Amino acid sequence: MDMERLMQELSVEEKAALVSGTDAFYTNAIPGLSIPALSMADGPHGLRKQIGNFDNGVTESEPATSFPTAAATASSWNPENTKKMGEAIAEECRYYGVHTLLGPGVNIKRNPLCGRNFEYFSEDPLLAGVMGAAEVEGVQSKGVGVSVKHFALNNSENYRFMGNSIASENTMRKLYLKPFEYIVKHAHPATVMCAYNQVNGTFCSEHKQLLTDVLRKEWGFDGVVMSDWGAVHDRVAGLKAGLDLEMPGDTAICRRWILDGIKDGTLPTEDLDKACRNILNWIDNYVKPADPVPVDWDAHHTLAAEIAADCAVLLKNDGVLPLKGTDKLHIAGELFENMRYQGAGSSMIHPARLTTPKDAFDAHGVRNHSVEDCDTILYFGGLTDEYESEGCDRENMKLPEKQLEEIDMLLAIGKPVVLVLFGGSPVELPFCDKVGAILNMYLPGQNGGKAAYELLFGEKNPSGKLAETWPLKYEDVPSHETFGKSVNEVYSEGTEVGYRYYQKHNIPVRFPFGFGLSYTTFAKTEWTKVGDAYEQTITNTGDRFGGEVAELFIDGELAGFQKVYLHPGESTTVRIVPEPKDETVWSDELTITPEPPRLPVTIESRFTDLKQTFMGRILYNAVMLVVKKQMKSADKMPDGPEKDNAVKGAFFMKRIMDSNSPRSMSMCAGSQMPYNFAQGFAELTNGHLFKGIRCFIKKINVPKLPKEEQNA
Ligand code: BGC
Repeated sequence: MDMERLMQELSVEEKAALVSGTDAFYTNAIPGLSIPALSMADGPHGLRKQIGNFDNGVTESEPATSFPTAAATASSWNPENTKKMGEAIAEECRYYGVHTLLGPGVNIKRNPLCGRNFEYFSEDPLLAGVMGAAEVEGVQSKGVGVSVKHFALNNSENYRFMGNSIASENTMRKLYLKPFEYIVKHAHPATVMCAYNQVNGTFCSEHKQLLTDVLRKEWGFDGVVMSDWGAVHDRVAGLKAGLDLEMPGDTAICRRWILDGIKDGTLPTEDLDKACRNILNWIDNYVKPADPVPVDWDAHHTLAAEIAADCAVLLKNDGVLPLKGTDKLHIAGELFENMRYQGAGSSMIHPARLTTPKDAFDAHGVRNHSVEDCDTILYFGGLTDEYESEGCDRENMKLPEKQLEEIDMLLAIGKPVVLVLFGGSPVELPFCDKVGAILNMYLPGQNGGKAAYELLFGEKNPSGKLAETWPLKYEDVPSHETFGKSVNEVYSEGTEVGYRYYQKHNIPVRFPFGFGLSYTTFAKTEWTKVGDAYEQTITNTGDRFGGEVAELFIDGELAGFQKVYLHPGESTTVRIVPEPKDETVWSDELTITPEPPRLPVTIESRFTDLKQTFMGRILYNAVMLVVKKQMKSADKMPDGPEKDNAVKGAFFMKRIMDSNSPRSMSMCAGSQMPYNFAQGFAELTNGHLFKGIRCFIKKINVPKLPKEEQNA
């Protein structure tokens, strides 16, 4: 690509088109200059390539391999897993002609109720950074780009489009920015996606300190910064702050602002040019023809099970596991047949294959005995999509009431009960002392049933370790009083998140960070310092092959780790050279700005706030009708994974509606809901009928997109 020639030949209208997306997941092609469109797709633990070149919601996507989600893969403490998964996903991207994968998501798990925790790795920045970097390396090694998301401090969902994360510089630097810093410096991602929320009163999409000073100047990032879908507020402020690409685009208003800004000088041409150069470089590096070689779907299905088995965490075992082939089992719990293997929202994959625990048990001829006639009871439970989804935070840390009742009933029988858990985040386990074993599969991907079978019957040995603390009860979590309750999300606990808090304050937990059992036993020596390295010898002292993790903590923080796999009697010495400790002293000061009033409603108000007035309720209900219709048609579909996905999609839609704002809706919906409609919504809600109508009928005049010109 001759960058200089293109930069000279691009008109300002073409530049304004180039820095914005189109058709939900593409960049704008400039046919006259032979600049092709670049195609993107979610992400992060598989590919959600929409069918057709337009936005059709989260449910209609091409079949692809649904791998374990980040909550699971982090528990393997083995970056080889995310690397291999990244390579496999990239092969599927190449096959479908996708040039950049929207993931991994590497935000810190600040609070266990965050609705997107299933998509994130850990409460620890080093673990999240290492696992994320390996995924980036895996994907990019196959010539597909990534978008590391959501930059930054995107740790809750209830106020996802307007929330304001208020944190001190020290908290940001020592915790929340760390995984991004690690990945940018070690894995050189093609792009970074900025988050929806504000950080200390400035939206991430216009946050110069984050997007330019820290990301580019300090860390040396030289790729593209794109917005999350609908995260743009003031496009000119965004370009000036370092936001290159607006997604999903097709918003006439943003192009209008750019053209006006260039004309009246409020947007310096250099700022627009910088964004164009970054985008052109990205297109040059990553746009390639689709790969005609078919994907080996069976191999990817097998890989998904191998990774899932390496991730599962054995939380408790009084000896009942592994099961013996001769054990008479009673099998209960809805998730046996209806395994929850992925989360709801933009990461929802249309699985190419699906093996539930029931499928795996049936394939091995395992019979389900009556309760009276059994030795052991297996219960398959956990969080379902109603309880955990992108778009909203969980209400509490409990398992569904019905499951708690069923578990109690089964315990009353007096036989050993094994709980096989699914779900993206920790739950309270009030019955923990009474069950014989707990195997936590997290969200294990499309072949999780096979992995569960192999682990339960001892064909494989669990070796996962928790990448997050499991508190005894939600009230023990440092941010429990305020989390997810208002626009201002004040990070007053500072860096005391997860184990950093529980350990410092001696708070008892259900299962600590780094915890996980095995069917074998290991002996570990104390760490010894040898030069600038630390060494530990691990010996498998039991009678089975198994995996164990060397976890090095310095000053109460994870400073390095390595997973090893050992045969009985085998020993190995792990050597870790920790990353140099960041000794910079950052400010601990918190600047708390007042929250905006709920009335009058503005285009930035939460959609539920419209309901405060009579007119607002009418508008709110009209929009919700569309969502209800989607729900109804999903309900009518024949049973199967497609229906499951459609129901999940409808739920997701319903949930994100409430956390939307008229502005974010318009920034997401392109020509279907232009910016003037968002303004109209606000005016009508506030009772300004004529102003509202005027907004609806005013048209945003903007030149045709290059592709429209060509079609015309
Ligand atoms: C999500 C992103 C996702 C994007 C595209 C957004 O709503 O926050 O994680 O990549 O949609 O689907």
